[in-house]
Amino acid sequence: MRLFFALWPDDEVRAGLERWSRELHALCGGRTTRPENLHVTLAFLGSVEEARVAEVERAAGEVAPRAVSLVLDQPGYWKHNRIAWAGASTVPPGLDAFVAELRSALARSRVGFDAKGFVSHVTLLRDAREPKAMPALDPIPWKVDGFALVQSVTLPRGSRYEIRRSWKG
Ligand code: 2AM
Repeated sequence: MRLFFALWPDDEVRAGLERWSRELHALCGGRTTRPENLHVTLAFLGSVEEARVAEVERAAGEVAPRAVSLVLDQPGYWKHNRIAWAGASTVPPGLDAFVAELRSALARSRVGFDAKGFVSHVTLLRDAREPKAMPALDPIPWKVDGFALVQSVTLPRGSRYEIRRSWKG
């Protein structure tokens, strides 16, 4: 199964992200992420055998979730993959440290993951055009107090992400 670890927004944060998504879509077009799929990826594992999932969960359980205040205040655009996203001008040090701990715990348990550096972002639009200028958007305060192990299920109409397990601070 296809798995990743993520920060999962509550309804209020999700509503803020949906507002950003609508405003950015008006400028950039593209395909919006379904609201129920919005998240920040912490570590992307990709395909994991069923028999290894318990080990993945055990490794994650070694890491203490922390409470961090993340403020999404900066929309961004990546030319190379035509993604428009919501990001933070300041990533709380606690979040970077948490991601490093989670990834070390996975590595110690020989759980493979995409080792690309962590960039805190929520993908809002795919196949988007580059905007002439990024709009100013209302900051979205997000009290992060846990993380989730998520399964990506491929459906004919696209992927659906299902939380398999979550850890709270
Ligand atoms: P994203 O973080 O930019 O949105 C599930 O596929 C999630 O894992 C998506 O949110 C996706 O992109 C993220 N992801 C991170 N690394 C990935 C990789 N190597 N392949 C596919 N998805 C990846």
